[in-house]
Amino acid sequence: MNTEHDKVALVTGANKGIGYEVARQLAQRGFAVFIGSRDMHRGREATEMLCAEGFEAIFLHLDVTDPVSIKNAVGTFSQKADHLDVLVNNAAILEDHGEDILKLNAEMMERTLKTNVVGPILISQDFLPYLKLSPHGARIVNVSSGAGALSTMNTYAPAYSISKTALNAVTKQVAGALRADNIAVNSVCPGWVRTDMGGSGADRPVEKGAETIVWLATDAPQHETGKFWRDKREIEW
Ligand SMILES: NC(=O)c1ccc[n+]([C@@H]2O[C@H](COP(=O)([O-])OP(=O)(O)OC[C@H]3O[C@@H](n4cnc5c(N)ncnc54)[C@H](OP(=O)(O)O)[C@@H]3O)[C@@H](O)[C@H]2O)c1
Repeated sequence: MNTEHDKVALVTGANKGIGYEVARQLAQRGFAVFIGSRDMHRGREATEMLCAEGFEAIFLHLDVTDPVSIKNAVGTFSQKADHLDVLVNNAAILEDHGEDILKLNAEMMERTLKTNVVGPILISQDFLPYLKLSPHGARIVNVSSGAGALSTMNTYAPAYSISKTALNAVTKQVAGALRADNIAVNSVCPGWVRTDMGGSGADRPVEKGAETIVWLATDAPQHETGKFWRDKREIEW
């Protein structure tokens, strides 16, 4: 692949759900898309499906909870691309269903924070040299959730909700740290989306869930950074 003049994107957790759809929509817009997946088989299958549609998709083995996996992924990436325009931190887990903060399992909380918060920080750090080489002004999109909004927070899924509040703080911090580099960093709530995580009763298809993520990764004004979005509108933290 010659990515010298190409637009290049990396989506984590892209083997299914919203991540897969974001990867598909970015590929449709002419991006060479790296399909981050911790599961080799499902990741390769998703990549092949996109390639079969005529898109440029490249499998990238990436477990966001494993610093060695992230470093190895950077190594593999660097053999195939010389810059990164768009990083979508999409991979996440939601393990608490009906849990009570007063009885919260500490190990589940730690797993959730490691995946949903520490992963995006490490990936942003390790891919930063390639984001800085983007000729277009790079963009990081952190896929958050309305569940993390402090303005409306109640008792729903405490570990997950707190992890998304923390991810929103990561967005503000990284946006501030990269403002001078013209790298836009934003959080987005995709809405309630029909995926394995959202369930079949959710009110949105993946196409709608991916829409604002892709907009922030492409058409949103580059100066918009350090904000929280849903349906292409800024929302309260
Ligand atoms: N669906 C909704 O209603 C909704 C609402 C608000 C926000 N969101 C957010 O949207 C994003 C995508 O959610 P989704 O609904 O598409 O969920 P999903 O269908 O459960 O997909 C989650 C993806 O994350 C990956 N993942 C989890 N842990 C990982 C790890 N350690 N390393 C690499 N990949 C990992 C999964 O890989 P495996 O296949 O290997 O498990 C899968 O590809 C998440 O950030 C979620 O919090 C979703």
